[in-house]
Amino acid sequence: MKTRFVCQNCGASSPKWFGRCPSCGEYDTMVEEAVGDRTQKLGKPPQPFPLSEIPFAKEERQSIGISEIDRVLGGGFVKGSLILLGGDPGIGKSTLMLQISHLIANLGKSVLYVNGEESGYQIRVRAERLSIDGKGIDILSATEMGAILNCAHERKPDFMIVDSIQTIYKSGLSSAPGSVAQVRECGGDLMRFAKEECVTTVIIGHVTKYGAIAGPKTLEHIVDTVLYFEGDKNQQYRIIRAIKNRFGSTNEIGVFEMTEFGLKEVINPSNLFISDSTNSGSAIVSIIEGSRPLLVEVQALTSPTFFNYPQRVATGIDIKRLSMLLAVLERRVGISVYSFDCFVNVVGGIKVFETSSDLGIILAIASSIKDKPIEKGTIMIGEVGLGGEVRPVHATDSRLKEAENMGFKMAVVPYKTSQLDNSKIRIVRVQDVNEAAKLTLGD
Ligand code: TYD
Ligand code: MG
Repeated sequence: MKTRFVCQNCGASSPKWFGRCPSCGEYDTMVEEAVGDRTQKLGKPPQPFPLSEIPFAKEERQSIGISEIDRVLGGGFVKGSLILLGGDPGIGKSTLMLQISHLIANLGKSVLYVNGEESGYQIRVRAERLSIDGKGIDILSATEMGAILNCAHERKPDFMIVDSIQTIYKSGLSSAPGSVAQVRECGGDLMRFAKEECVTTVIIGHVTKYGAIAGPKTLEHIVDTVLYFEGDKNQQYRIIRAIKNRFGSTNEIGVFEMTEFGLKEVINPSNLFISDSTNSGSAIVSIIEGSRPLLVEVQALTSPTFFNYPQRVATGIDIKRLSMLLAVLERRVGISVYSFDCFVNVVGGIKVFETSSDLGIILAIASSIKDKPIEKGTIMIGEVGLGGEVRPVHATDSRLKEAENMGFKMAVVPYKTSQLDNSKIRIVRVQDVNEAAKLTLGD
């Protein structure tokens, strides 16, 4: 196969690799790619078509019965779609896909699991652990793209998994498996295969540090759906998130717990992110993940500083937002924060980047400084402005509904909040942070 090297920065190409692009002068941007005959054959030129005349059929979906996965995909796997599942090594991608394979095989479908990472025996051991008998799942231990596609074309499975793209290579390309060129070419081949044979195909990709090994980002634009498997390896819970979905909405999440016997879906994830603590410095906020509201506990701890410059440490929230909220507390509420170190942490290791959590964060800090706990069963909703005013946020209704489902008794919400339905939770409207602090922490 003929190959060439193309600069990812300026597009210049050369038959030889350069560490620095001779055209634009950028370092480490030359990537190998196959040179095919991509010129248009002479003949009938392509004709445009009226959009309305293109036949439409609703896509065929396979729901697998794990509601967390089905929702993230927008109602199940679309037949013939190509899905990328990315995540850190060891997060549980192979475990999840083996569990999904089992469910699909149980529906009477054939599954081809292409395995380039582990021995067949290792997969067998994992299957035993997950109590999977393996009926209907064929394991193909191979790493060469041509051989994999031959087998796949011959078998035409209903479902195919490639674990992982970084171990697969296309012979003819001189670069190593896992390089940008290999990952891109193999991804393109799998896309063609999935569409031609109408086989639902999942590509597993490890997220890697920038380097010679290309991560899933290289493939995001090719595939139909991009799922990321996130979570702290030291925590039990895992979140699967749709970053891109041609057949559904993005940013939906599914929550799982990694147990001794595989991944279990968590139907009520708010429980995971709320501790039982009744200490001062803790507040419950609500974030919206996709279409789903999630209650999360924010904890703040303040202690007198011994240095000229107080420490600000934020885990799970934006440090700049924290600085802003501290300034609001100092100037608008009159609580002095400059002599305190301030640590803010979100329970369960989840990240909270919604401004709707401002009110909760600021009150958690105030609660810690005053050493007065906020009453249990209270949820805080609202964005805080520089004037200390509390502003409305979107989806208040569904946030309140979730709080009600979780047994919360009181909600502190922005004054201007409209359309509150007749929920059982006690709703307290506040104009500004001052009012909210007086209400929840007293004078
Ligand atoms: P794995 O699916 O191999 O991760 P990946 O394919 O993303 O690299 O799972 C890795 C971790 O999950 C491993 O450290 C062991 C753990 N694990 C469990 O805790 N319970 C189980 O039932 C299984 C199969 C794995
Ligand atoms: Mg794996």
